[in-house]
Amino acid sequence: MKTDGGSDTAKRRAGERAAEEVEDGFVVGLGTGSTTAHAIRAIGRAVADGRDIRAIPTSFQSRQLALEVSIPLTELDAVDRVDLAIDGADQVVDDPDAAARGALIKGGGAAHAREKLVDTAADRFVVVADPSKLTDRLERSVPVEVLPDAHTTVADRIDAMEGEPTLRTAERKDGPVVTDNGNLVLDCAFGRIGDPAALAATLSAIPGVVEHGLFVGVADATYIGTDDGVEVRH
Ligand code: 5RP
Repeated sequence: MKTDGGSDTAKRRAGERAAEEVEDGFVVGLGTGSTTAHAIRAIGRAVADGRDIRAIPTSFQSRQLALEVSIPLTELDAVDRVDLAIDGADQVVDDPDAAARGALIKGGGAAHAREKLVDTAADRFVVVADPSKLTDRLERSVPVEVLPDAHTTVADRIDAMEGEPTLRTAERKDGPVVTDNGNLVLDCAFGRIGDPAALAATLSAIPGVVEHGLFVGVADATYIGTDDGVEVRH
């Protein structure tokens, strides 16, 4: 799992604090990434202590970790509700005056399609992050998952919007990253994003786009781990 960016202590504090929200009988959505991994391990310990918890992973990676720590798994279409989702982010708007406060860029792990599905289905969605993720405006590239046949046509549409699309390639082998859903990812740079909700709507409307990594108005709280403790933003 990638661990670049913030300190692992900060990530662990955020993840473990969020895991404390998981109650007996809960169905919990498990996000993807190095911060959420700490929450998954803490939930595994709660299960080992006898808590009745079931989980819905959002990626192959989080599923493998959940299996490793013996968390019983279920599926979105097999449950009546998801009580809580815990997930990381690549960037979080943390300006109290910003209209887009709490908006996220996700998809660093190319899992944002399933993450959005599970995070938005949950009664409560908690973001876990370290301070390196906080920003006053979203400005990282937005991951856009596309059907393989659509990667050139979607890239053309992004170009026409004055974005810069780059097909994500695998680090260790020659070729593109393929998502758990069998699709490709275009990382699209738009500079500083003034209106994330408008950009999200525009991206969603492009034929061939499966899902993008802008999460606007979705998170209920952000738990920011630091080397000293955890700050909670609602
Ligand atoms: C995966 C994600 C991750 O949650 C995001 O990349 C943050 O990862 P990390 O906690 O390792 O920094 O969106 O698609």
